[in-house]
Amino acid sequence: MTAGDSATLQNDMQDACFRPGLEGIPAVQSNIGHVDGQNGRLEYRGIPIEELADKSTFLETCYLLIWGKLPTQSELDAFKFEVNNHRRLKYRIRDMMKCFPANGHPMDALQSCAAALGLFYSRRALDDPEYIRAAVVRLLAKMPTMVATFNLMRKGHDWVMPRDDLGYAGNFLYMLNEKEPSAEAAHIFDVCLILHAEHTINASTFSARVTASTLTDPYGVIASAVGTLAGPLHGGANEEVLEMLEHIGTADRVAAYVDDCVTNRKKIMGFGHRVYKVKDPRAVILQKLAKEMFEKQGGTPHYELALKLETAVEERLGHKGIYPNVDFYSGLVYQHLGIPSDLFTPIFAMARVAGWLAHWKEQLGENRIFRPTQIYTGEHGLPYEEIAKR
Ligand code: ACO
Repeated sequence: MTAGDSATLQNDMQDACFRPGLEGIPAVQSNIGHVDGQNGRLEYRGIPIEELADKSTFLETCYLLIWGKLPTQSELDAFKFEVNNHRRLKYRIRDMMKCFPANGHPMDALQSCAAALGLFYSRRALDDPEYIRAAVVRLLAKMPTMVATFNLMRKGHDWVMPRDDLGYAGNFLYMLNEKEPSAEAAHIFDVCLILHAEHTINASTFSARVTASTLTDPYGVIASAVGTLAGPLHGGANEEVLEMLEHIGTADRVAAYVDDCVTNRKKIMGFGHRVYKVKDPRAVILQKLAKEMFEKQGGTPHYELALKLETAVEERLGHKGIYPNVDFYSGLVYQHLGIPSDLFTPIFAMARVAGWLAHWKEQLGENRIFRPTQIYTGEHGLPYEEIAKR
């Protein structure tokens, strides 16, 4: 075989393997999360999401994801104590945040703050378990404070000091809304965080692992993942669900809206999923939570509309495997908890930092820097044309 034949064969093989966006190509081996899209199952470290939503808390779930096992009572107490003690932000980070434009997007603020933590805490001692634990604790503890503080500052308010006596979810709602939430609201929000904590190798987790594979610091890893989550094809559909419900307006317009979308091949926000071909198990749990919450505290017109929309979409698109995804009910729940819609994606990031950190740790354990190849489609050997002649 000549050198030319060999190059052609290599190109043919690369062409045959090429999948835009790496769709369906296994990029890592992982034992953190598992999704069964045909049967609507999601597990963290082998435990079904329904069990965790029912019996665990967000911080315990973080421990499970990051250290691979459920903590004992004393391990959990120590972990909670550490996270509680690292919720405050250095005054220099708060001063930096004061310079952010009030109309900037909260995801950009969060990404900048996560990266800025690296200025203060980066030692890159990636073989030191204490450094790893401190980074995990700091990121989990400070992300909610950053989200709440940016929201307060852009309204011209002072930051609210975290309250050590409140749990993770309750403290976040307290800092955000400047009043203590009910135990029920804190519980619902905690379950929402559990549901968003991990979802295998999606775009932001892949981004976290690629960044981790260069052995940079964990703050850079999380900043990179936050930047990836910020795009509208990844986070953010729950914000659009609320806009869509607003646009539909009344129940009698649901059927016409769905028909129009089907006829004109428009996507209905909060429906469909690349992996799930049945109802997303997280949407099942969220719907139950929303139902209980709205039954107790009074429904909203949006909730009634959402139920009608789900039935109408199922009738028309169920045969294609189009069912509600996690974003369909989460926006309604967050809205009811007093959360502004442009914070929905930062809240997703606050929860997903658990999964990103678990993948960061896993990547460090068996690291090989990511270096895929490409198929070059340009020309070769062109002469350099002098600028005067172009
Ligand atoms: N509304 C109407 N039809 C849909 C929808 C939808 N939401 N989603 C998919 N379809 C249809 C498509 O038109 C297509 O039909 P066809 O086969 O007749 O052409 C078929 O289902 C397959 O659609 P794809 O876009 O190829 O499915 P894909 O797996 O690429 O997309 C995605 C998944 C991006 C989530 C898509 O369903 C979508 O855009 N949904 C709306 C946005 C949304 O809710 N995003 C949040 C996802 S969950 C998350 O990221 C946390």
